[in-house]
Amino acid sequence: MIDRRVESEGPLNRLDDWDDFVEARYPTPGAKATEDFRKYDDGARDGVREFYQLNHRFQTYDFVQEKKKTYLSFNHSPMTVLDAVDYLNTLVDDSDPDIDLSQREHLLQTAEAIRADGHEDWFVLTGFIHDLGKILCLFGEPQWAVVGDTFPVGCAFSPRIVYPEFLADNPDSTDPRFNTRLGIYEEGCGLRNVDLSWGHDEYLFHVITQAGCALPESAQYMIRYHSFYPWHREEDYEYLLDDHDRQMLRSVREFNKYDLYSKSPERPDWSRLSGYYTSLIEKYLPGKLQW
Ligand SMILES: [Fe+2]
Ligand SMILES: [Fe+2]
Repeated sequence: MIDRRVESEGPLNRLDDWDDFVEARYPTPGAKATEDFRKYDDGARDGVREFYQLNHRFQTYDFVQEKKKTYLSFNHSPMTVLDAVDYLNTLVDDSDPDIDLSQREHLLQTAEAIRADGHEDWFVLTGFIHDLGKILCLFGEPQWAVVGDTFPVGCAFSPRIVYPEFLADNPDSTDPRFNTRLGIYEEGCGLRNVDLSWGHDEYLFHVITQAGCALPESAQYMIRYHSFYPWHREEDYEYLLDDHDRQMLRSVREFNKYDLYSKSPERPDWSRLSGYYTSLIEKYLPGKLQW
């Protein structure tokens, strides 16, 4: 049998080590980061630090423009949502399959937790698809360009970004075009006009919106900004927001609750759930999407 398994490239043993680190940093839903998150240690810590070193050094304004040019031409592969879920599920890490959840299992646990709380179907589907942009790893992108807390590029870096000291290695931090409070942006310009560091959030947002996504705007915000912790948790970058962003913040925070705290050792049964999710996809995101 052909081995189709692909590993993500980078210092994390598992792509989900980043998610686990974020959860350790934010043990209380809705609250800011705990001061002692640096003590986070389960053997994955060195990999996580190295991961942030790379992420903070290489996520420059120019890098983001280059990735947008590459991926927002959508010439990688036409796939339905379910094709993309299957494809993402071929991503394996240096992990123990008996203990660690697959990518599909994380999507399902997030979605099922949203459903169990009686939320609307579009919200459930948002949980089911929110990390599909991680297929960037399968297109050969390194971990630091796929996951990680996102932050604006093109203006000064916030000290509320995790491991801010690593941002000193980012050439934009000494570039006078980019290292002032507003940089290339205008006060209150709105997040839609701000470039964030490149990753799975931004990519999926563009994939679904260019396909004429019927999901409500709250869902689009949840997808696009779910890793933007310096905003939705640390409450920074107020000066870039417009009133619309402020309204949408509630939705992004509501989503984060499920993304971060829905992990459970109980494995969801895809064969039992597939019919329901297929009908949601038919309703909101039918047919092939361009990736
Ligand atoms: Fe994510
Ligand atoms: Fe997630």
